[in-house]
Amino acid sequence: MAGLIPQDFIDDLVARADVVEIIGRRVPLKKAGREFKACCPFHDEKTPSFTVSPSKGFYHCFGCGAHGTALGFLMEYDHMDFPQAVESLAQSMGVEVPRSADDRPSRRYDELFELLNQVEKGWQRQLKEHPGAVDYLKGRGIDGATAQRFGIGYAPDGWSVLLDRHGTSEEKIDRLLAAGLVIRKDNGGHYDRFRDRLMFPIRDARGRAIAFGGRTLGDGEPKYLNSPETVLFHKGRELYGLWEARQALRSIDRLVVVEGYMDVVALARNGIDFAVATLGTATTPEHLNRLFRLTDDIAFCFDGDRAGKKAAWRAMETTLPHIREGRQVRFVFLPEGEDPDTFVSEKGADAFIAELDRGLMLSDYIIRELAGEVDLSTVDGKARFAEQARPLLGKVGAGVYRDLLLQSLAETVGLPPDRLEANLGAAAARAPGAGRRPSAFARSRAKSGRPSVVRRAITLLLNHPGAGARLDVEKLAGIRRPGIDLLEKLIETAQDEPNISTAGLLERWRHDEQGRHLGKLAAVELPADDDFDPAAELAECLDQIAAAGRRERIDFLIEKQRLEALSDEELSELRQLS
Ligand code: UTP
Ligand code: MN
Repeated sequence: MAGLIPQDFIDDLVARADVVEIIGRRVPLKKAGREFKACCPFHDEKTPSFTVSPSKGFYHCFGCGAHGTALGFLMEYDHMDFPQAVESLAQSMGVEVPRSADDRPSRRYDELFELLNQVEKGWQRQLKEHPGAVDYLKGRGIDGATAQRFGIGYAPDGWSVLLDRHGTSEEKIDRLLAAGLVIRKDNGGHYDRFRDRLMFPIRDARGRAIAFGGRTLGDGEPKYLNSPETVLFHKGRELYGLWEARQALRSIDRLVVVEGYMDVVALARNGIDFAVATLGTATTPEHLNRLFRLTDDIAFCFDGDRAGKKAAWRAMETTLPHIREGRQVRFVFLPEGEDPDTFVSEKGADAFIAELDRGLMLSDYIIRELAGEVDLSTVDGKARFAEQARPLLGKVGAGVYRDLLLQSLAETVGLPPDRLEANLGAAAARAPGAGRRPSAFARSRAKSGRPSVVRRAITLLLNHPGAGARLDVEKLAGIRRPGIDLLEKLIETAQDEPNISTAGLLERWRHDEQGRHLGKLAAVELPADDDFDPAAELAECLDQIAAAGRRERIDFLIEKQRLEALSDEELSELRQLS
């Protein structure tokens, strides 16, 4: 759908959008100089590091690194996908999104939220009227206050309870379908998805129900039935209990990731308010981003069975690219046959916390697992250990944490770390998805020890798109260095669209891998005084890049001349250059 919204409409929309008003309607902003500040809505903090720049049309948090345009903010904060955010922004500005004829009008998201809210409240009322469901909860040790805190309800038995109440027109049935609450039959009819189940609302960052998990009261199959993926609900993003944890805790010091709804609820019942659960899926990078925004201390607590062990290994692999100094990740294995729910209910909160504290650090976990598969007393075993550690190490970004991990691995096989490194050598760098290969920017900076001219030029252009108006891109022709293609494209875009804003440029690169770097550069604060002339400085950058390119070409030609004869063309080029 995104492709159907014309790009120039999006340019125009973000250029005209008042980012301060849009964000300010949702987060209380205070003026601070040219910008506005607030405590970041995307992570826990006490002093404001969330900054909104009206001139750039852009927000940025110096604490957690969250950043984006008005559209990006709506996507994150109001839980929308891109077309929805465009729709919502346009609506708030009183303009209509131009669309091609075959496109259906976008759904009304506020109506979906409202429907989910009504259904949630209805199921909570039903719970009170169904002693069987209440008894089930009580039997599992859940008291009324905890049930209320999690908004647990009961969906009564029947194929059309919701349909009868909320599906009284075609349009309303469509809405029930879009919310994942009813299922369409082959013959065109519909029926309620959740029947005779205890209902757990799954909430978004603002506490609104976006989906449900339903548990049978008996032995029915499946034990848990979840909402399907909908426009509001993406399993791989959501963590059950996160909103409730943020409500319960003033600051989140640690989070523990468990497997099930009942684990979260039972832990909370016992005073452990910092548990969240993935929703019957493996832990995703998006989950980890969310978790690490809130805390640096994460524990994974899996059941002691085989499935739990497999899940832990996968979680570890997903975590490796996110690991760095200061972040602590532990793996906790409960005794076989226990899960957090049964464990905390039998042994209490202190015993559970003791288990968490006893959990294996990520590196120890890796070593224990790998060492368990080989005989480390033999040369062959050590070699196989190193072989298996290789792809894992390849996922960790260079830095203190990687060094420490390498050191632990080396100690385990009884080699000096640099020997092991050499053994793992090139292969680690080649490992599939070799995490954090330094970006082009980082690499060019590493060489010169300071931000490269290309990076500086991109920063200037992003912050002052108008400054690119009269640049001669031809100067850059034939020069190869990191980031230069991007710089060229940015200049061309700024020249084609003289009115494009910082936010507009960022939106152009939204779907591009390089867009992530651009966000960081757009956040750089440039001087605001009268002497600062971005256009002149940008032109100077281009001259420097061109000069450096010329020097490199000369060096190349001279070097070539030393080894073989130059062609006539090359000879005249060399003469011209020097
Ligand atoms: P478990 O089977 O470990 O259940 O599933 P549990 O959490 O211990 O449940 P209780 O204690 O018997 O009530 C863990 C999680 O896997 C997903 C659910 O998210 C569940 O909480 N799951 C499990 C499903 O989605 N469907 C199922 O049929 C089973
Ligand atoms: Mn359980």
